[in-house]
Amino acid sequence: MQDIISIVGTGFVGLTTAAVFANAGYRTYTIDTDENKINTIKSGKSPFYEPGIDGFVERAITIGNLIPTTSYSESIPNSNIVFICVGTPSNEDGSVDLKYVFESVSSIIENANSDLIIVQKSTVPVETARRLEKMIQEKNKKNIKIDVVSAPEFLREASAVFDTLFFDRLVVGARNNEAANKIIEIYKNVDSFSKVINYEKFIDYAFNNTSKKYLDNLPLFEKRILRTKVESAELLKVTANSFLAMKISFANSIARICDETGAISKEVMDGIGMDSRIGRSFLYPGLGYSGGCFPKDVSGMINTANEYNVDFGILEEVKKINSGQINIVVNKLKRLIGENLEGKKITVLGLSFKPGTSDIRKSQSIYLIKRLIKLGTIVNAFDPKATDEAKKEFNDKNLNYMNSIESACQSSDCVVIATEWNEFVNFDYNSIKETLNNKNILDCRNCLNKDKITESGFNYIGF
Ligand code: UDX
Repeated sequence: MQDIISIVGTGFVGLTTAAVFANAGYRTYTIDTDENKINTIKSGKSPFYEPGIDGFVERAITIGNLIPTTSYSESIPNSNIVFICVGTPSNEDGSVDLKYVFESVSSIIENANSDLIIVQKSTVPVETARRLEKMIQEKNKKNIKIDVVSAPEFLREASAVFDTLFFDRLVVGARNNEAANKIIEIYKNVDSFSKVINYEKFIDYAFNNTSKKYLDNLPLFEKRILRTKVESAELLKVTANSFLAMKISFANSIARICDETGAISKEVMDGIGMDSRIGRSFLYPGLGYSGGCFPKDVSGMINTANEYNVDFGILEEVKKINSGQINIVVNKLKRLIGENLEGKKITVLGLSFKPGTSDIRKSQSIYLIKRLIKLGTIVNAFDPKATDEAKKEFNDKNLNYMNSIESACQSSDCVVIATEWNEFVNFDYNSIKETLNNKNILDCRNCLNKDKITESGFNYIGF
């Protein structure tokens, strides 16, 4: 029998996975309760901005392999594998809200009428699968077999399609070997598809942005597969994100010492990064981490540790250091334009939590803008993709959303780079020098060439 897949949730993980599976040849239902999103996907488009995804969605719809629906009764009875890719937001206390996971699994059980593998891809606390299995046992009154597999997702926003095609690892936590084999088989087909893909049709930021070296060194499929216990798979996803967040906060603390001593953070990070035990990645100091994953996963891990009476104070510090980065930026700003920020015009370039996405969840840039406004400044902000999202989230009489770098910099007392979009990295700041009130640049992502900028007569502070 040809496998038919349903994927619940049409966010970055769900829709990207569905679009890639459908292009790789699988009949794939993409399920969401939000009718607007489903209608957008039906028209061959993604409801969110993600480099390269539109081409995949459009082709999948055209060939008829991607079936968007709001209906579990249309999709589940036809499927033998269901991926859960719904949101798992934070509760007020930092614990993870599993409402959408349980609701979707409940709907799946109600509508299933033959054996089924449920693949848990949403990021969840360890032992969630056990709770799901218990619920399945209680609710599954039909004589069908439902397996739960944990296959956490490691894709990064802004390269979601690339990461799905050229995944660095597939972790499969399963109690039943046959169920694990089935999931591995699907990814084997994705891997084969990735090798014959017509790049010209899909080429976009995600491909340009990712190094050829990575592809040349990508290990064989078998070497990228890790079979684990279900609980290990669940735990290792949150562990990975907490660890990466820790690296960033570590780098930010070292950068604070650099500021006081004259050491240069880049040199320190380059030096320690040459130690293969440490590595160079995720040691870039700046405004700090944000997005839909790191803040939530660090809090979730702290919560899990507390629940099992494990003292994990180091993660409390990671969080504290990250939120403290806003103060660090404000102090740097004061070094550039003086103690009194009231009435000053500040340009903030970048609203998204990182370049290549319109996602502003927990964006440090937005937190910074809120603080700057509290301090009495007037903020002119510009982002190539995230302005509409930001407008939905935050408005103030002292915040102006602008539609170009040039207009955002007009009469500015300081240009703050909050997100390292290519547009900002490659911009010729000389061209707007005369329109500024003061020639100040605060580079919160260390992404500009300090020597060139200062040679051009700017006062420059980075991290
Ligand atoms: C992350 C994980 O990388 C991914 O594996 C997981 O599946 C989801 O969470 P993502 O949230 O897309 O992916 O963003 P990522 O590229 O990891 O960056 C997270 C944040 O850290 C961004 O705000 C980024 O600006 C910041 N960051 C990253 C730093 O401040 N310094 C660094 O050195 C690296």
